[in-house]
Amino acid sequence: MCGIFGYLNFLVERDRRFVLDTLIKGLSRLEYRGYDSAGLAVDGDTEDQTFIFKQVGKVAALKKLVDTQEIDFEKSYISHCGMAHTRWATHGQPSQLNSHPHRSDNHNEFTLVHNGIITNYKEIKTLLEKKGFSFETETDTECVAKLTKYLYDSQKNSDITFTDLVKMVVKELEGSFAFIFKSTHFPNEIVATRRGSPLLIGVKTAKKLKVDFVDVEFGNAPDAINIPDKDPTGFMDPTEGGRPQMNRSLSRAFMSEDGMPQPIEFFLASDASAIVEHTKRVLYLEDDDIAHIADGELHIHRLRRDDGNSPATRSIQTLEIELAEIMKGSFDHFMQKEIYEQPESVVNTMRGRVNFETHKVTLGGLRGYLSIIRRARRIVFIACGTSFHSCLATRAIFEELTEIPSQVDLASDFLDRRTPIFRDDVCVFVSQSGETADTIMAMRYCLERGAVCVGITNTVGSSISRETHCGVHINAGPEIGVASTKAYTSQYIALVMMAIQLSEDRLSTTKRREEIIDGLYRLPGHVKEVLAQDANLQKLAEETLSKEKSLLLMGRGYQNATCLEGALKIKEISYMHSEGILAGELKHGPLALIDENMPVILIMTKDSLYPKVQSALQQVTARKGQPIIICNTGDDNLIRDYKTIQVPQTADCLQGLINIIPLQLLSYYLAVLGNIDVDFPRNLAKSVTVE
Ligand code: UD1
Ligand code: BG6
Repeated sequence: MCGIFGYLNFLVERDRRFVLDTLIKGLSRLEYRGYDSAGLAVDGDTEDQTFIFKQVGKVAALKKLVDTQEIDFEKSYISHCGMAHTRWATHGQPSQLNSHPHRSDNHNEFTLVHNGIITNYKEIKTLLEKKGFSFETETDTECVAKLTKYLYDSQKNSDITFTDLVKMVVKELEGSFAFIFKSTHFPNEIVATRRGSPLLIGVKTAKKLKVDFVDVEFGNAPDAINIPDKDPTGFMDPTEGGRPQMNRSLSRAFMSEDGMPQPIEFFLASDASAIVEHTKRVLYLEDDDIAHIADGELHIHRLRRDDGNSPATRSIQTLEIELAEIMKGSFDHFMQKEIYEQPESVVNTMRGRVNFETHKVTLGGLRGYLSIIRRARRIVFIACGTSFHSCLATRAIFEELTEIPSQVDLASDFLDRRTPIFRDDVCVFVSQSGETADTIMAMRYCLERGAVCVGITNTVGSSISRETHCGVHINAGPEIGVASTKAYTSQYIALVMMAIQLSEDRLSTTKRREEIIDGLYRLPGHVKEVLAQDANLQKLAEETLSKEKSLLLMGRGYQNATCLEGALKIKEISYMHSEGILAGELKHGPLALIDENMPVILIMTKDSLYPKVQSALQQVTARKGQPIIICNTGDDNLIRDYKTIQVPQTADCLQGLINIIPLQLLSYYLAVLGNIDVDFPRNLAKSVTVE
């Protein structure tokens, strides 16, 4: 998914090489989001010049392009602003031209980078074409660059500020976006704004900031620019709003003691992983914020001045992630590292929340909402991909412990059905990134209908974390591999903890809760036991599975979700066709696929459904199938008669946490053997911020 990075230095001398390297490094930190091309813009040799470099493919290819330019890399700047972008094509093929930054004209008067989709771009484009503009790309973004120039030219004699210009532009836009704007008319200034797509700003100073917040300027001074409210054709007559005036107020955070400007650097990015190595002090923009950075100060304006619902300040927070956390360390791939982090990440999810002695769970994030959730008429779990599987994996324990009817929905299907939602429903949105467009839209749909909305997310400050009424951060640490692994196990645990806490006042389930909490206590050790079988799993992938075209995974009850998640892992990173099949459905169709050549993995760990899975095993072997069986250590009959993967036994509702680990490792080795870019599989993105 697109990634944005911006860098602005003020009174800090930097040469062009430094600026370019900083931008490229910022992009490489965003690579994990998935992309197909990249580009950047920096100042040219004179004030009215902007250099734009764009390239299809990896950030490394962009770096190569930049390095071979015949430009003065030593040219030094006391103040400068640059911007960069990784693109994930939505409108128009991946190509050099369609890559960002986009520009308003041949002189690059306005350049911008964009994450999201402008849904009314066709109308804007048609109107601009009528005004004589011609377009060089197929993107929705280019029309925003041209619209900016059109509005600027219409206001040319009125000393319009960069902020007010961008306000005028944004008022014409529909859809979702995060933007950074740069202009030769406003040297060393950046305007950034967002609606629906994430954007944050890091601040780096030698001296401590005076306060840890930035005032929001609502633009209600009497002489502030009066921009008319949105009108579909409003930009056709931009002079209507009267003569714009400067509307500046000092932002307290950036005032120095003696009133003198202080050296400062700003870093803008779609997420914190690109900023954390430079500074830990960050500010998250809200929807419809217009951030203006100039003369070493950051000002936050609102799109509309009567916007009384927005808080009056934006706090400058301290990031808690370390760069080391987002680096690969000694592992070959992020996915491998993340699989191996699970003994630790599962503990981090439970840290401070589970008391293993008193058998009590306390989720601080649900405080204040527990009684409302307990009274819910129904719990609706909504998510996409792997996050959806974590909901499936825990639905049964939710129903058993809370006795609240529970349903699990894929976010896109939930929206397609326009599912009826009521005030006494509790809707739980599970998302590693907290930025998945379908899940966010489903959340907003449920918020509008008055349901209590709960988030389960890995990303503090994400849209889902901020907009839900309450929730639980899973605290798994950044997950960079596109194939989700440690986030799955942590989401699973967070949901189990939630079910336990919701049922804590039900005496009849006390024993059951204790059994589960004891299982959680042993979990890190159990995960380590499975990881220790790495070499065997690698061998299995190499000798038995890597030559196959297809793989079926079968199980039932709690293991249905494990099969679906295992099959998703295998197909998404090894490109091998793989299907998760509910063993109870075998005779209703899938059995037709079984013969001596069809590879099958059957999950047969011990729980109350074991006898039923035994019957599935017989059905498979009767058709000459030769399944590989995931079974518990000590299940001697199976171990004697079949090829097995042995895993320790735990509480039935936690067994899926252990059983998924060998499947994660198998999918990893299948991908490595297939020479596939494990962390960035084709056609997929880590964070899917478009519908
Ligand atoms: C919080 C702190 C943690 C601290 C602990 C000590 C944060 C992010 N967490 O953890 O650093 O050690 O208190 O008491 O500051 N929320 C949502 N939607 C979501 C996720 C969370 O609204 O999707 C809300 C929660 O309702 C809560 C807040 O965000 O108000 C923090 O959630 P969480 O980190 O899970 O809370 P704690 O575990 O209590
Ligand atoms: C994408 C990712 O499809 O989005 C998956 O590739 C992920 O790994 C899915 O499960 C949902 O993402 P999130 O961030 O909402 O959990």
